[in-house]
Formats: sequence, C-alpha cells, structure tokens
Amino acid sequence: MNLILMGLPGAGKGTQAEKINERYNIPHISTGDMFRLAIKEGTELGQKAKEYMDQGALVPDDVTIGIVKDRLGKDDCKDGFLLDGFPRTVAQAESLQSLLKEMDESIDYVLHVDVPKENLVERLAGRRICPTCGATYHVMYNPPQKEGVCDNDGSRLIQREDDQAETVKNRLEVNIEQIKPLLDFYHNKGCLVTIDGDQKIDHVFEDIQSAIEK
Ligand code: AP5
Ligand code: MG
Repeated sequence: MNLILMGLPGAGKGTQAEKINERYNIPHISTGDMFRLAIKEGTELGQKAKEYMDQGALVPDDVTIGIVKDRLGKDDCKDGFLLDGFPRTVAQAESLQSLLKEMDESIDYVLHVDVPKENLVERLAGRRICPTCGATYHVMYNPPQKEGVCDNDGSRLIQREDDQAETVKNRLEVNIEQIKPLLDFYHNKGCLVTIDGDQKIDHVFEDIQSAIEK
C-alpha cells in the first residue's frame, strides 16, 4: 500500500504516521524528519535545509525531490510506503508521478488530515518531541506519563525550533497557499480522501483505517 499523508502544519500527520506504521508495517517517510536528522548530523543537506526551515519556508524542490527519490529506491519501500509532508508543491507531485511510473507503482490513497486553521497554532505551541526517538507529544492533548519526559526512553522532551510563534505564522501562510492546488491535483486523480482531523487522535486513526480498508 502506497500512501500520502497531507495536511497543514500541526494537523497530525506525524502522529497518525506513527500509528499507520505500527499497524500496517510500512516505512514512514517524512521529509521534515529527514531534514531535521541532516541538521543534527551537520551534513551539507542539513545546512541547506536549515536556511529555509528556520524561516518557515519550503526547502527548494530539487533538493527535496532528490532525497525522496533516493529513499523510495531503498528495499524497504518495495511493499509499500507512507509519505508524510511530501509532496508539498505541484512540481513535487509531478516529479513523484514520473518516479512512480518508472517504478511501476502508484499511489493508493492521499489522506488529507483536515483541521480548522484556528486550531493549529495551539497544537504547534503545545507540541513536545523526544530528541532521541522522535516521539511526538502534546502538553494537553497527548501528554507523556511523566511531565517533560519521553515514555519510550526517558529523554527530556524539547520543542521543535520551528514551533516558535514567528516561524509558525510563516509556515502556516506558506502551507495554506500550497495545499489547495495539491488537493485539486489528487482529487483529479481520484485518490484523495478527506479525514476529519479535528477529533481525538484515536478517532482520527479509526477513520483512516476505515478509509484504507474499504
Ligand atoms: P514538517 O516536519 O513536515 O512539518 P509540518 O508540515 O509543518 O508539519 P508538522 O510536523 O509541524 O505537523 P504534523 O502534521 O506532523 O503534526 P503532529 O503529528 O506533530 O516540515 C518541516 C519543514 O521542513 C517545513 O516547514 C519545510 O521547511 C521543510 N520541508 C519538509 N517537507 C518539505 C517538502 N516536501 N518540500 C519543501 N520543504 C519541506 O501534531 C502536532 C501536535 O498536535 C502534536 O503536539 C500532537 O501531539 C498534537 N496532535 C496531533 N493530533 C491531534 C489531535 N487529533 N488532537 C489534538 N492534538 C493532536
Ligand atoms: Mg510532522
């Protein structure tokens, strides 16, 4: 099963991707996570991505398409994959189409996790992540068992750098503008499914399961 999770910053893509990965055992490919790892490792890709991410802007298409192409070529993608946060522009979507054609593959579902814009700032402001395993929490909606500490490995939770108020504002503006033509693109291909993301985390996942097991 080849899936794309689409949605504005804070919609819950990463949260649902963890659950989909656990349930269906397909690799979770998040371009945002790949860039953050490159930044942590201090690679050339990381330095380039950081310039854009710190401003809440999109990393240029050629860079982003290149890393996804490499990743989809890995063996673990042969039985399916889950893209999170890619594609984010129509140019990326078109490149993905040609790439999938070369691989003799196609997208089964594009799951659009839809959340009213007004709720996103609060979700991003309350998000905490584990710097070790990458798990995502929310201070109110998905708190860890012990405040400020990761359930999986006991690391102290941190805030993502791009979750600061000024960066969030820009990220939302950029993404709101980009998402509409992408939704049209996949609607026209007949694989777009809208999921109500404004519900409890487990209910959102139940709706995703019903959509893909239909
Ligand atoms: P990326 O890391 O993809 O960030 P994003 O798209 O802004 O999305 P987020 O990760 O912030 O949100 P999410 O939807 O995963 O929500 P989450 O599950 O964490 O990209 C970062 C940057 O990298 C971009 O700005 C860009 O610069 C660059 N980049 C990445 N991909 C690119 C591309 N393709 N092209 C160009 N540049 C690219 O949930 C958020 C919070 O809400 C959490 O605290 C969570 O616990 C909570 N929550 C989740 N679900 C619920 C719920 N149902 N109810 C209540 N709370 C919930
Ligand atoms: Mg995410």
